Amino acid sequence: MREVTEPEELRNLLTGRRCEDKSIGLVPTMGHLHEGHLHLLDEARRENDIVVLSVFVNPTQFSPNEDFERYPRDLERDRRLANQSKVDILFTPTENSMYPRGPSSQEVWVDPGALAEYLCGPSRPGHFEGVATVVAKLFVMVQPDAAYFGQKDAQQSVIVSKLACDLNFAVRVRVVPTVREGDGLARSSRNVYLSADERREAVALFGALSGAESLLGLGERDPRVLEKEIWKYIAEKAPSARIDYVSAVDLYSLLPAEAQLARPTLIAVAALFGSTRLIDNTIVDFISGEVRFGWPSTG
Ligand code: PAF
Repeated sequence: MREVTEPEELRNLLTGRRCEDKSIGLVPTMGHLHEGHLHLLDEARRENDIVVLSVFVNPTQFSPNEDFERYPRDLERDRRLANQSKVDILFTPTENSMYPRGPSSQEVWVDPGALAEYLCGPSRPGHFEGVATVVAKLFVMVQPDAAYFGQKDAQQSVIVSKLACDLNFAVRVRVVPTVREGDGLARSSRNVYLSADERREAVALFGALSGAESLLGLGERDPRVLEKEIWKYIAEKAPSARIDYVSAVDLYSLLPAEAQLARPTLIAVAALFGSTRLIDNTIVDFISGEVRFGWPSTG
């Protein structure tokens, strides 16, 4: 594995590989790798000749009151895991190489438009602009054939897919299923912040979404009923959680789902456990009258 911190060196290295007709898969992360990231790396390994893992805690996607300073970092451990996952190039850019004039002097941003107005958008102003901008920078620096994102961050995945399409990046955006802990809690770098009590309650997100999946299996198609049931379940099983939203939305526009579900629908939740904000979701599609869960393969 090669570790590179300078975009120029990365570009030279990858130009050589591209000339040998090698395909390049990019897994962008903020480090503190967990099973979810390792699953993205496995997929990238399976589908590409060269795997690039980027580790960069991007300051521009954190609001001033968020956890940028205390976001978990452990580059030594990330290096070890990257090696074990057979990463070819570990890209660990400095803040200066990602934002040459400093993050606060960046003037040109990628604006995700209305897609950032729903779900997590209102509670995290500027977050998706920061994500879209840094992902666009990484796409320019790596020029990957495919890039890998987790379904847990579904809104981010929708925005990045549109970014690739609308800005003509020749990259295939692959969305990989959420990896869960034994009891169903979605893997997240932020799970380390949870106290024992919060951790016990946090599994309610998965329980509520599983309940909604069962209702869909039984024929429920009213998004408002599903939202209400999810909300009720979380409020009951995790009384100390502060629910931010429970929303069933169209997977591609992120607009509220219509009265009778028939299209790919993202059912997403966000809740605060203490000061830790967790998100989770399920995606449902209806193919020839059958209910299917997961990111549509053509999405
Ligand atoms: O999902 C993440 O870890 C980040 O939002 C990403 C995509 C690496 C951009 O900083």
